Amino acid sequence: MSARLIDGRAAAEALRARLAIIADFFRASTGRPAGLATVLVGEDPASAVYVRSKIKATEEAGMHGLHHPLPAKTSEAELLALVDTLNRDDAVDGILVQLPLPKQIDSARVIDAVSPDKDVDGFHVVNAGRLAVGAEALVPCTPLGCLHLLTTELGDLSGANAVVIGRSNIVGKPMASLLLGESCTVTIAHSRTRDLPEVCRRADILVAAVGRAEMVRGDWIKPGATVIDVGINRVPGAAAGKTRLVGDVAFDEAREVAGAITPVPGGVGPMTIAMLLRNTQVAAHRRAGLKPPEDL
Ligand code: GUN
Repeated sequence: MSARLIDGRAAAEALRARLAIIADFFRASTGRPAGLATVLVGEDPASAVYVRSKIKATEEAGMHGLHHPLPAKTSEAELLALVDTLNRDDAVDGILVQLPLPKQIDSARVIDAVSPDKDVDGFHVVNAGRLAVGAEALVPCTPLGCLHLLTTELGDLSGANAVVIGRSNIVGKPMASLLLGESCTVTIAHSRTRDLPEVCRRADILVAAVGRAEMVRGDWIKPGATVIDVGINRVPGAAAGKTRLVGDVAFDEAREVAGAITPVPGGVGPMTIAMLLRNTQVAAHRRAGLKPPEDL
């Protein structure tokens, strides 16, 4: 039996189509488009590609993208001054400072300086705290995208055994909070977990976010489980000099056992940008005193 493929591209496209309608409503209600400010320090090619695709998606979704490229030698004080200006700018609903930052800048200090109400990455400690206590928060985009795929695939998640591999502040911890919020029984596994394969075999829902190519093997998976693969790892391809992308899960093995699984690419990845647009609309609505649509 082969697992159902969870199509993240189709889910992201559907969400973006809805967001375009919501963007029109916001613009009609307030007389201005929702605005997302992106900040890129330096010229790291991978980061530049990410930011460009975020700006393009922002404009396509009927929002205003304001990009701020800064030179690689920008000081922490200069970046903090820009963040302060964006915090005060009423046309800006969301602020995204692309990570990683050059080494002269303390990322934690910059994340801390972004107004929690404009923190569309959901990285600020206030949003992490709000999520942890079940209050209204801006939630990191990748785990939010994973949850959207899971609820679309499974409906009600309550009572399911969920195992999250990885304990990062960006994916693992917020993912665990979201699953707990859906009344799953949640285990966070990590590099020190004893007998990881056995822990994974208990999972009805398995979320892999470790950043190690094909670490999760087919025999770690409970038959019929839903597998969400957050990993994006570049490995040598079949042809000389070529590379290919693989997830944290050994896909060909896992799909023979799982009930449903996200592919890499085309699974979680496309959802992340869609959720950034979603978070920007949510932030814009809240800032304007409007209620964001319930099921967004
Ligand atoms: N760098 C890689 N992923 C992300 C992300 O989701 N947000 C930000 N700000 N930087 C990143």
